[in-house]
Amino acid sequence: MTTSAAVIVDAAAYAQAVKEAVGAAADYYAGGTSPLDDDAYDLLVRGIAAWEAGHPDQVLPESPTGKVAGGAVEGDVPHTVPMLSLDNVFSSEEFTAWTASLAHRIGHEVTRFSVGPKLDGLALAARYRGGRLTQLITRGDGTAGEDVTHAIGTIEGLPGTLAEPVTVEVRGEVLMTNAQFEHANEVRTAHGGQPFANPRNAAAGTLRAKERAYTVPMTFFGYGLLPLPGTTAALAERLTASAHSDLMQLAAEFGVHTSARTAVPEVVAESPEQVLAHVQEIATARADLPFGIDGIVIKADLAADQQAAGSGSRAPRWAIAYKLPAVEKITRLLEVEWNVGRTGIIAPRAVLEPVVIDGSTITYATLHNPADITRRGLLLGDHVMVHRAGDVIPRVEAPVTHLRTGDEALIAFPDECPRCGSGIDTSEERWRCTQGRNCHLVASLAYASGRDQLDIEGLGTTRVVQLVDAGLVTDLADLFTLEREQLLDLERMGETSTDNLLTAIAKAKEQPLSRVLCALGVRGTGRSMSRRIARYFATMDHVRAADAEAMQQVEGIGIEKAPSIVAELAELAPLIDKLIAAGVNMTEPGATPPPADTTPQDGTATAPAQAGPLAGMTVVVTGAMTGDLEKLSRNEMNELIERAGGRSSSSVSKKTTLVVAGEGAGSKRAKAEQLGVRLATPDEFAALVADLLV
Ligand code: IVH
Repeated sequence: MTTSAAVIVDAAAYAQAVKEAVGAAADYYAGGTSPLDDDAYDLLVRGIAAWEAGHPDQVLPESPTGKVAGGAVEGDVPHTVPMLSLDNVFSSEEFTAWTASLAHRIGHEVTRFSVGPKLDGLALAARYRGGRLTQLITRGDGTAGEDVTHAIGTIEGLPGTLAEPVTVEVRGEVLMTNAQFEHANEVRTAHGGQPFANPRNAAAGTLRAKERAYTVPMTFFGYGLLPLPGTTAALAERLTASAHSDLMQLAAEFGVHTSARTAVPEVVAESPEQVLAHVQEIATARADLPFGIDGIVIKADLAADQQAAGSGSRAPRWAIAYKLPAVEKITRLLEVEWNVGRTGIIAPRAVLEPVVIDGSTITYATLHNPADITRRGLLLGDHVMVHRAGDVIPRVEAPVTHLRTGDEALIAFPDECPRCGSGIDTSEERWRCTQGRNCHLVASLAYASGRDQLDIEGLGTTRVVQLVDAGLVTDLADLFTLEREQLLDLERMGETSTDNLLTAIAKAKEQPLSRVLCALGVRGTGRSMSRRIARYFATMDHVRAADAEAMQQVEGIGIEKAPSIVAELAELAPLIDKLIAAGVNMTEPGATPPPADTTPQDGTATAPAQAGPLAGMTVVVTGAMTGDLEKLSRNEMNELIERAGGRSSSSVSKKTTLVVAGEGAGSKRAKAEQLGVRLATPDEFAALVADLLV
């Protein structure tokens, strides 16, 4: 938890900081989305307070430090007793120091504290006369608030009539529970409104809105009970003399909702240590609560202690807010990724400018579904409010629209499944690949038949979808046992295309081991890694016999990657067996298996030296290939280099021995020239490896 403050160096910076804080606070109380999140605001105010402590003669009248609520919307209904704010502590040390100063002030240790949740909403005074709810007033500037009586009937926990016909003012917090917030945003957007950024803003905006076509419920939690003009002397006496915990009991008996029946009821603690234990309990429960809290409020429970401590102009001295780290921060939305889940659900995920929330760095957050993006009106490049509580997946709540620069861009929605390329079923809010659970299968088969893997001509996504839909193929090996009749039964499969496809599949059986390995799609092994594994082990038997240590002998496979590759290959064993049974080649032409034990005694890994015309060379290919090499893809060129004993690479460095520069070669050729690396034309290179070109 941080106790640092913004550093203010001079009067000008101080004035600027005050201006920023006042603006943010005004926005906060009016239900807008402040450009500062809570942590940033606290940091700023602490910086302002620190500077003021050293320059008491230069304190600006509008400074938020001396106010109940800097920038609050002022009202015209006077409060009988000021509605104060609370001072904050941010650590157990600060809390202990506070208890010591309180004990010093009242002349003895406090032995009864009440400890309860600091509800993240807005303070509200509810006036009951003769047991009937007659008036609702916001805190305003603390001495007078705004009349929001129109909200009567929309606030759960504030009954229209109390259990007893008393005249009394109930004070407490009005908020939206998470469920009420979701509901409110649904209703609001259905009426064409912009969604609220978070429950707090939603409650603030809703409480003050007068002529809306709809009403949405909120919830009240009482935390104070005081007399009004007209309260009987007996009750007034009771209210001023009772301990806070007894008042809360009474409020509950009157029918007012308090924290008592939540998972974090207010409790009495008898020492600062006990208080801190409750603070921990509440902090732990926070993530699972159905409403937001931003701290813990600790009060001297006994009326006598409260009276002895008294109040300052801004806050009582007998109570303190132990602030918990904010669960919301503002950061930027950099990108939206579309991920396909196991069942084919296509879910958007926000890529964020990294931001620390409650000690963890957050880079990704869920965006729920495409409709949600539209509802929230998000744009790429937006500043967004990100929420993360406990272990719950972080979520983007809303854009901070007034921070827009005009450079924001629309978020592109996919028009085909980003994994397998099939269609998307958009009939529900959650988009889904039309292949559902088969999406992954379609994607992996389409990948396996691709040009750099098994290179099965005529087997693109559409055809794969057909085969999977017809139930003819449930894994890669099934491709190799397809029968002519089965294919002929499919739509748009005439004799010629069937025969062509069967020929292409038969040809694929002869692909080198490197291509088969690549087609298996083992995580962390793309084309070049598959080639290195195949060249090193030469046969699938040797690959499968390798343990993690042996796997590490392959260049580029370290201690982290090796075990996962070995494990994944073990998982793929049934499929590999099936491929072998179907007659798929499992050897790498030109490669020889490693000797039985290639692990050197000193533990250093050395791949066996390669033979061939390019032995010991690192070769980079750039530009378009011509002549004998014209038809080779970049992957095939790399395969050729490696078969010739060389190493293929994609970037030119001092370690590069040869750059094959074809037509249109640009920066790589220039770099080679600059570094003095040998250059070859495609024809010169073809001559070099002529023996391997068949
Ligand atoms: S007692 C005279 N108890 O936090 C002190 N306040 O940041 C009255 N708040 O103005 C406050 N939960 O609006 C109290 N359990 C709780 C609270 C609570 C939330 C709010 C309240 C207060 C603000 C100060």
